Amino acid sequence: MNDVSPATSADNTDPAAEVHTAHVVAEHGPGDLRGDVWRRFTELFGREPTSLYSAPGRVNLIGEHTDYNDGFVLPFAINRRTVLAVRLREDRMLRVCSDFTDELVELDLDQLNPENLNGWSAYPLGVVWALGEFGADLTAVNGVEIYLESDVPVGAGLSSSAALESAVAVALNEIWHLGFDRMTLARAGQLAENRAVGAPTGIMDQVATLFGEPDSAVFLDCRSLETQVVNLGFAEAGLALVVINTGVRHSHATGGYAERRQSCELGARLLGVTSLREITVSDLPRARDALDDVTFRRVRHVVTENQRVLDTVRALREHGPQAIGELLDASHWSMRNDFEISVDELDLAVETAQMNGAIGARMTGGGFGGAAIALVPFAAISRVQVALDGAFAEHGYAQPDIFVVGAATGAHRD
Ligand code: GLA
Repeated sequence: MNDVSPATSADNTDPAAEVHTAHVVAEHGPGDLRGDVWRRFTELFGREPTSLYSAPGRVNLIGEHTDYNDGFVLPFAINRRTVLAVRLREDRMLRVCSDFTDELVELDLDQLNPENLNGWSAYPLGVVWALGEFGADLTAVNGVEIYLESDVPVGAGLSSSAALESAVAVALNEIWHLGFDRMTLARAGQLAENRAVGAPTGIMDQVATLFGEPDSAVFLDCRSLETQVVNLGFAEAGLALVVINTGVRHSHATGGYAERRQSCELGARLLGVTSLREITVSDLPRARDALDDVTFRRVRHVVTENQRVLDTVRALREHGPQAIGELLDASHWSMRNDFEISVDELDLAVETAQMNGAIGARMTGGGFGGAAIALVPFAAISRVQVALDGAFAEHGYAQPDIFVVGAATGAHRD
């Protein structure tokens, strides 16, 4: 575990105090990349950047595969960020570089075409193209130099891609004086992901990284695109949100994610509605009669998950985070058995956390790998970590990366 290790407790440091520190740690988290990004930019481009921007990854507390069904989600931005340095150029060249690869990618603004973008630079350059699709006059702007680094783990289901997209969107919105509001920037990030990267994802991740607030989740209605801030209050309740990254990599540009999306669209069509948002729990008996078993279970996941998001928001507001454990557990059950997007490592992480003191646990993100989250009382954190390490070793799985996250601010200039 990065933030709290058995070694720390053996040193007689109070684990609860340690976690609390981790929880309220500044939004840049343990590894603040800003100094490094400024320095690397200067070395690379031979002059200093004009500004730094950053955008966080996200954890989805609950509401999985509901966003593209016009439903409800409840993610929060985390204190792991992509940090970006930028400077306007005198010509029309886009030059982007990151510590993901050594490659410096160059493209003339007049050559932008989402079909020709590939590799990691499809994210930042895709955002440039998408801003144009939302009305930015890309014929009237100068090129930019961008260098970025990130401490959001890639492929862990914590939205490293949305962090990158949102950092770029916020930076260009300011440096090019585009005047877009945050929801338009979120939609541009989603369009970049859909068209330039080729992943048919919803809008949750970009909204989380742009609308996050400290110690709060973003309750988003994906049909109206209205957001509400919901206080989390984990630390006050003596709880920490523990991320368990299984290390099983996934990509939403291929395979299962798109298939699940198609099943949902089929279910909606067969039930005669434009989206599964229009189906409620009381419609499920009718849906069971109308659909084949697999489609019915996909539909049941989405319908019950929407209800669980609403129940979680109410529970947080009325009773605080101690009251949401069973909803997290039920969400995992539904993803494992009805939506079938979990993998053995995620199930092991969830079960081990549940059996060792977590009040609730579930996989988070699109599934097929990535991370689980567990809501754990401070006093049980060491036990959960030791148990996870032991269980993964026993099954012959690689050791998971375990760390505590806090809810942080969305994308902004630093
Ligand atoms: C990925 C996508 C999101 C959402 C989740 C599942 O993170 O990017 O849009 O669909 O999966 O809830």
